[in-house]
Amino acid sequence: MAQATNKWNSSFAFIMAMIGSAVGLGNIWRFSYVVYSNGGGSFFIPYFTAIIIMAIPLLILEYAIGYHFKDSISNILKKIKPKFEYIGWFILVCVFLILTYYMVIIAWDFIYLLLSFFKGWGVAPATYFANNIIVGGDNLKGILEFVLPVSIITIIFWVIVWFISHKDLNDGIGRVVKVLVPMLFLIMAIIVVYALTLPGQMIGLSELFTPNWSSLTNIDIWLAAFGQVLFSLSIGLGITIAYASYLPSNEKLIDKALIVVCSNSGFEIFTAVGVFSILGFMSLNSGIAVSDIATSGSGLLFIVFPEIFNIMGDVAYILGPLFFLCVLFAGLTSALSLMEPLLCSLSYKFGFTRKKSVTIICIIGVLISLIFTTGSGNYILTTTDTFVNEFGILLGVIIQTIIMAWCYGLDRFIPSLSNSSINMGRKWKFFVKNILPFVLLIMWISGVIGIFV
Ligand code: PHE
Repeated sequence: MAQATNKWNSSFAFIMAMIGSAVGLGNIWRFSYVVYSNGGGSFFIPYFTAIIIMAIPLLILEYAIGYHFKDSISNILKKIKPKFEYIGWFILVCVFLILTYYMVIIAWDFIYLLLSFFKGWGVAPATYFANNIIVGGDNLKGILEFVLPVSIITIIFWVIVWFISHKDLNDGIGRVVKVLVPMLFLIMAIIVVYALTLPGQMIGLSELFTPNWSSLTNIDIWLAAFGQVLFSLSIGLGITIAYASYLPSNEKLIDKALIVVCSNSGFEIFTAVGVFSILGFMSLNSGIAVSDIATSGSGLLFIVFPEIFNIMGDVAYILGPLFFLCVLFAGLTSALSLMEPLLCSLSYKFGFTRKKSVTIICIIGVLISLIFTTGSGNYILTTTDTFVNEFGILLGVIIQTIIMAWCYGLDRFIPSLSNSSINMGRKWKFFVKNILPFVLLIMWISGVIGIFV
């Protein structure tokens, strides 16, 4: 059973990789909408509660697991009890599925990056998206003209991911994240600062931040906050465990976890300010209420934004490409992070080299991604997304937390945390063992009821 031999050559590379994983499509398309549709300004109460009572303790747990065991998630669970290995592979299947559809969204985004140079989506972006990107099963013209490029671009991005991931840690991912993550922040800063100068920005911002205090009594809003935080910080997928297993000794784990949480939340709140300023500008120009424009998911990225760029004039030829480039970097660094637990587990389980594991994952991954680019692919993509995010990941998180807290024992992780500037070992232990599993279970059960009822 091979152990992790690769080590990060700097803390900076590790932190950039962690932030690169956390800051993804969820921060750009999901967060703004989730805040807006769940009580606006008052949403920040459940949001920060979720960060403090769930995200920080869980992230510290994942850092400590990776750092302590220096192994892959499936092997770690197997070491605790052989049968637990299956739980590890269940989580890895979820990770793999997320990766396969993430690659398709990255390909869509790349198409929009090219289109944004000449507003190639035309005067009706919604129709363009429906006919040319998500192709209806009987739309032969669309299939011939566009499925081919979407699938080819998806394959090209798989090749890019292969190229980066098959290299050694510091030569591949380490080097890429050190460039892309700072650029991502810089580009987003330019977009947001510009957005704040647009006329109508206050219309959007007051929609975003006006609190609806009565919403706080609604359990769904709390669930939305917990779900968003989990997704946004890429918790529960073995990513942090893999990345932390490459850390050299004497690291300040708690400090690093806090840096990642603050950067991720800072990025998503800042982005929401930009997104809603732009929606306010659109509302002022079109006379449509922000509430009718605001939407989530691919609709916001690939329909609403092109519509806004259409009414923006020439500045859109700069802002559009910058925006889609930002999404591309955010997506790519998250995709690279999804690769890591997969290749770690394959390599350690079967003794494969990093290159061999990455090659196997990419070949199977391409084939599955291609299904998402066919006629009914978008339906399969949405269903997979709902299943994995609302059911799979959370279940994995609950089981991992219970195994570590109740079977393995959190005391064994305390030495790994003792080096940090903040000493929260005992409080953390009490919390993760006695409170967190129940909070997570309530969330999971409500989520399952929501899907099936
Ligand atoms: N954290 C990413 C985001 O906010 C999403 C993601 C989840 C990425 C899981 C990788 C793994 O968009």
